[in-house]
Amino acid sequence: ENQAETEVANLTVSSHASQAAKPVLVLYASQTGNAQSVAEQLIDRLHSSSVTAELKSTLAVSAKELVDYSTILLVTSTHGEGEPPDDAVDFYDELTSKKLLSKKQLLAGIDIAVLGLGDSSYEFFCQTAKDMLDSFKKLGAQELTEIVLCDVDFEPAAKQWIDQVAAAVIAKGKELKTGKDASKIAIDSIDSIVRNEKINYDKENPFTASIATIQRITGRGSSKETYHLEIDITGSGILYEPGDALGIIAHNRSELVSDIIELLHLSGDTQVKYRNQQLTLIQFLTEVAELTLINKGTVQALIELTQSDALKKRVKNNFKSYVKDHQLIDVLLIAKPKISAQHLVDILKPKKPRLYSIASSQRENPDEIHLTLNHILIKNQNGIRYGLASHYLTQQFEEGQSVNIFVERNPKFKLPSTDSPIIMVGPGTGIAPFRAFLQERAAKNSAGKNWLLFGNPHFNTDFLYQVEIQKYVNSGVLNKLHLAFSRDSDQKVYVQHKLLENSAEVWQWLEQGAYFYVCGDMHKMAKDVEKVLLSIIQQQGKYSLDEAKQYFKDLKVQQRYQRDVY
Ligand code: 2AM
Repeated sequence: ENQAETEVANLTVSSHASQAAKPVLVLYASQTGNAQSVAEQLIDRLHSSSVTAELKSTLAVSAKELVDYSTILLVTSTHGEGEPPDDAVDFYDELTSKKLLSKKQLLAGIDIAVLGLGDSSYEFFCQTAKDMLDSFKKLGAQELTEIVLCDVDFEPAAKQWIDQVAAAVIAKGKELKTGKDASKIAIDSIDSIVRNEKINYDKENPFTASIATIQRITGRGSSKETYHLEIDITGSGILYEPGDALGIIAHNRSELVSDIIELLHLSGDTQVKYRNQQLTLIQFLTEVAELTLINKGTVQALIELTQSDALKKRVKNNFKSYVKDHQLIDVLLIAKPKISAQHLVDILKPKKPRLYSIASSQRENPDEIHLTLNHILIKNQNGIRYGLASHYLTQQFEEGQSVNIFVERNPKFKLPSTDSPIIMVGPGTGIAPFRAFLQERAAKNSAGKNWLLFGNPHFNTDFLYQVEIQKYVNSGVLNKLHLAFSRDSDQKVYVQHKLLENSAEVWQWLEQGAYFYVCGDMHKMAKDVEKVLLSIIQQQGKYSLDEAKQYFKDLKVQQRYQRDVY
């Protein structure tokens, strides 16, 4: 049965299956009543064939509500110089707006059929019908039957259209039913697959979302370029939970790509082969290759090719710290290889999607995923080097453009299923999942106590989400808040110092069953926080070191110590 489920999940049944439970919409935009009367005839026909269908005027729906239907049968007149009827003006404006059209998959899986009523003596004959169909298609809907445009004497053509679409709708219903029987999966269980998100996007099959907001949230003069991003996932069917991550499929910077091509005296148009694919060198370097993280295999291949002593020396000499602030192009600058385009393709590795902790809760933002990220920028002796996805998302994009994404589940970083208290340690961009946790708990009216510890260099420029956090304090969602602005005083103050200062209370919360979460820097912060936590347990519990370690281990076993560190 599992296999059957997986097979269903792999087909594109997802949209169809979930559509099956949704009604058909007969939608009309009428100026004089003709379109309305055709629509009424059509709905009667559908009802007499037991099709679940609703009749609505364009006055009564917004374009966003269209997603609630499996099929849309639109009858619209046109008046004047190809203008929509009065009742359809708002609907038309919304449907053809840039903002809506940026949601490219909004109506994916939905069928559309259009009947236009017009007067062929006008230049813009049935223009409204054509425009609306155009938008439907841009939003991913597919044509159930071809558009029919009627002239003044519309009745015969309209009757034919009614016959045709009614037959198509009924046939589609049958196809779905037999499909269901054949695979012995009830529509209900397919819906639950969708809900459980066994159908998901991944790096091979990402969802093309649009970026709705890109906002820098650290102030002028801050040492950090931190951004808040809002990604529109309308129509994707994506379901995510606080703690999950978002995979971003980024492209390499075009300047970096051309620098590499120039450095190696290659030509970007050269055709190369990569895994049975024929593409240009420029395409490969932009869309496929890992250029920002240094790969050991690639470096080894370059040493073999060039026998470069400088590179050999570099690798022997503290290479681990070298790779932190250098990229492939720096290695190429040392090795200076004479290499063909194809050979270069053969020694480079494909880039991995970059994962970011999601900073929003879907309960509060059903159609959005928010991220909090630092634009990575490193200066070395050769120039400035940028992070792949962080640069792509924050510098190469304008709001409204699309990006390929998928949700990566993180079962290891989840809110407790109960109302247990939680302690969240999230300095810097480590705040991200905790913003999601707080949104979720606020939306659910959870009675669980929440404690947030946040840190960053300066209060003035780096208090991420300050207004929201203060609101949570005021509304009582946040029971405790500790801030560590490390460079506002002579001595560095870090989140772990705040924990230590509040040892007694940390202990109290733990003894009340609190869950302890850490997100952010893995190398320093998370280690220091762990040390402090262990010492709090030892001190407050009056334990030996071994006993404290056992207590800490128990926390982990009970999944009450969870980390999302990077
Ligand atoms: P700093 O850069 O002033 O040293 C988010 O990056 C915050 O984490 C910054 O305020 C940073 O302080 C701080 N930070 C750096 N190292 C840390 C450590 N070992 N433990 C806790 N916080 C640390």
